[in-house]
Amino acid sequence: MIGQKMEDLINNQINAELYSSYLYLSMSAWCSQETWNGFAHWMRLQAQEELSHAMKFYDYLNERGGTVRLAAIEKPNDTWASPLALFKEVYEHEQKVTAMINAMMAEAIKQKDYAAEIMLHWFVSEQVEEEANASEIVAKLEKIGDSTGGLFQLDHQLEKR
Ligand SMILES: [Fe+2]
Ligand SMILES: [Fe+2]
Repeated sequence: MIGQKMEDLINNQINAELYSSYLYLSMSAWCSQETWNGFAHWMRLQAQEELSHAMKFYDYLNERGGTVRLAAIEKPNDTWASPLALFKEVYEHEQKVTAMINAMMAEAIKQKDYAAEIMLHWFVSEQVEEEANASEIVAKLEKIGDSTGGLFQLDHQLEKR
């Protein structure tokens, strides 16, 4: 049986992962509209990944005898100034998610909730990868600057994800 505090944190995280999915889907839509098809593809896959994160927490909560309580999902932005502005927001968002996962891990350790700790290990590693992927794209976009040719090349590269 899961404790109330951990149950609340997991429900909150389900909402955060669904919001991430919603945000990235909105970003994908903007990229498509701007005919950045590679960026759109990358963001669309990312949206799917975030949905799978929400479902990992959802399944875990069910398995542990907790109650899944779905809350309203915040409306994401739908316009960005540039691909760089968009990917900077992805990176900042992922850092926020990392802080949430770390706070959950700290609570699991405090409560000696070993099952939650083991489940959260996967997310701690996943966030390392998520931040690295986003920051790498930001760094490339910063180097590209105003070069349209460079943007097309990166867009083409991300289409292969
Ligand atoms: Fe996630
Ligand atoms: Fe993520």
